[in-house]
Amino acid sequence: MRRVAKRISETPAKSFGMYERAARAEAAGLQPVRMEFGRPFADTPEHIKQAAIDAIRAGHVHYSDPAGLPELREAAAAKLRERNRLPGVTADDILVTNGMSHAAFITFMALLDPDDEVILLSPYYPQHLGKIELTGGKPVVVDLDAANGYRIDNAAIAAAITPRTRAILLVNPANPTGRVYTEAELRGLADLAIAHDLVVVSDEIYEDVIFDGLPHVSIGALEGMADRTVSMYAFTKSHAMDGWRIGYLAAPKWLLPALMKVSTNDITHVNTFIQYGAKAAIEGPQEVLDHLLAEDREKRDFTVASLNQMPGVRCASPQATTFAFPDVSALGIPSQELAEMILDKAGVAVEAGRFHGEAGEGHLRISFGSVSMPELENAMQRLARFFNAL
Ligand SMILES: Cc1ncc(COP(=O)(O)O)c(C=O)c1O
Repeated sequence: MRRVAKRISETPAKSFGMYERAARAEAAGLQPVRMEFGRPFADTPEHIKQAAIDAIRAGHVHYSDPAGLPELREAAAAKLRERNRLPGVTADDILVTNGMSHAAFITFMALLDPDDEVILLSPYYPQHLGKIELTGGKPVVVDLDAANGYRIDNAAIAAAITPRTRAILLVNPANPTGRVYTEAELRGLADLAIAHDLVVVSDEIYEDVIFDGLPHVSIGALEGMADRTVSMYAFTKSHAMDGWRIGYLAAPKWLLPALMKVSTNDITHVNTFIQYGAKAAIEGPQEVLDHLLAEDREKRDFTVASLNQMPGVRCASPQATTFAFPDVSALGIPSQELAEMILDKAGVAVEAGRFHGEAGEGHLRISFGSVSMPELENAMQRLARFFNAL
């Protein structure tokens, strides 16, 4: 009688990678520089905070529309039509979610029957794996190749498709590789999805954390994709709103009622006054994003330049995201072991590339966006000492 559901007991435990070890080191008073996870360093822009505070003061403390505030969904739909070029999206196609995690979870809940397969590109964002498994699906990992800059490998994806394949999960821009996929790569993926009648679940959480003016293409905007793409967004990274827990998705009409069924049974709806903050984020001054991005770009350039001076470390400059993903394979040390050594000896918490799948082995993921510039300088000095002494 005292047992948990097989759905829980028979799926792998959720791993937080180096987070737990780093948190223990911190609790023990060791003051590690925490760069193992992607928590934005910046504060949420003031006008967004003010909008949520004003909403509470104005009494917006009650239930709202289960799909999300109509005016937020209107604002999100306008943004998706204009910036993401999602054709014909209206407020009726949008569901406001409790961040990206909730959007992904309800999508897999709504899509997957037991043992339906979802293709993930590796190195992957590990937290998506658990959602696929908990909802009864089976993650199928397709490795991308560091040697060609982690380009989407449509031949490898085609080879992984079986009669049980239901969806392809795309993270664009990609965590942890920092890749911004080109329209040509996405077109190839879209053609595969169309040919095999698959859904593309598109996590675009880093759409506003792209450097050097590279264009972001939403796969749902490509011809033939509108009716088979779930396009998911969140304010988490771009607006430094990770603790607010808010995002939104646009889904095809055949799927949205199913997503609503899961979401309303689960959370009823996202916190009402938080949604006013999100509306201000979409409609308010966009220069704040330029400022946040400029800070991240400065940190990226400093991180990449510093890492490339360390023996055994080669680091390509990420096109997007707040992660450096240096190649440390020359050292011949498994990435998990190396990450633990770095935490224990250098006092810097980084993530092992292996945490992101086998294709991530030989790499480390370093979240430069999670710390201040002085902390970053300190971390790079510590890492330089560590690698020089190895
Ligand atoms: C690719 C990706 N998707 C989803 C998330 C989780 O987002 P949220 O905090 O909005 O649930 C993250 C956070 O690091 C991420 O990097």
